[in-house]
Amino acid sequence: MPITPTSKIWMSGELVDWDAATIHIVNPTLHYGWGVFEGIRAYATDAGPAVFRLTDHISRLFRSARIYLMEPAFTAEEIIAAVKETVRVNDVESCYIRPLFYLGYGEMGLNPLPSKTEVAIAVWPWGSYLGDDAVANGARAATSSWQHINANSIPPTGKGTGQYMNSSLAKVSALKAGYDEAILLNPAGNVVQGTGENIFVIRDRVLTTPPIQDGLLAGVTRDSVMTIARDLGYDVVEASLVRTDLYHADEAFFTGTAAEIVPIASVDDRPVGDGRPGPIAREIMEVFRAAVSGKADRYKSWNEYVRD
Ligand SMILES: Cc1ncc(COP(=O)(O)O)c(C=O)c1O
Repeated sequence: MPITPTSKIWMSGELVDWDAATIHIVNPTLHYGWGVFEGIRAYATDAGPAVFRLTDHISRLFRSARIYLMEPAFTAEEIIAAVKETVRVNDVESCYIRPLFYLGYGEMGLNPLPSKTEVAIAVWPWGSYLGDDAVANGARAATSSWQHINANSIPPTGKGTGQYMNSSLAKVSALKAGYDEAILLNPAGNVVQGTGENIFVIRDRVLTTPPIQDGLLAGVTRDSVMTIARDLGYDVVEASLVRTDLYHADEAFFTGTAAEIVPIASVDDRPVGDGRPGPIAREIMEVFRAAVSGKADRYKSWNEYVRD
């Protein structure tokens, strides 16, 4: 998706012009993929932009950094304040937010430890990641022949930059075959997630999503959807799924910050349910939309406002 530039990017404590936010080409993160990041959204509300579950995202960023022994010179509180400042100075009502911990210039080689951890935070307006048509009519998904990374290869519980090579391999194969999104399986053959989204199936009004130990990222949207669904009175279980569970579902959907909630219309050319976004997915999407835009009192602790 094309990027719409904004005005300033926060780089290790300084707000620099968008076009000046550059790094040297001889940079170990660029060459070896040793970095961690977050994907967050700020939504327009009646009280100005509110970052959705910012504290939870920054906690995950620091958990990812812990896996890769990256120690930035900033605390979580300072990064939270910097995210809010970056949204404010760019004067956007809603946006995507990309904090990145990367290795600084000065060292090369496969030992990242001598390099300093730098921090950048960019924000830009971003529409629906899988497209408005997928949100309205459902995405066409395909299970991938690329196996998902696992806890003993590249840990999927972190959000490491390099691990997205795995996601992109699956994404490209799916797109080239005419699908909207790939679903990856783990070495045991269980369903893990989409390339940048968690997955839920619904059968007989029970929602099931794979457990963390099957090798997925503990999504903030996944957690929000589990809470919303339970509050709506549905049973939600975390249990392993195989690909035929997707074929037999009444409904299925993806969740993620970039994609938000996207119904799945078909998997491997088998329609999910009647092949249209189902009623439970639509009900949850409606509550989620109210929650992110500050219109659901029950979830107001999820709205972290950037203006005082
Ligand atoms: C691989 C993967 N799974 C799931 C998700 C969804 O996580 P979240 O809802 O926190 O954005 C993401 C997005 O960050 C992701 O990259």
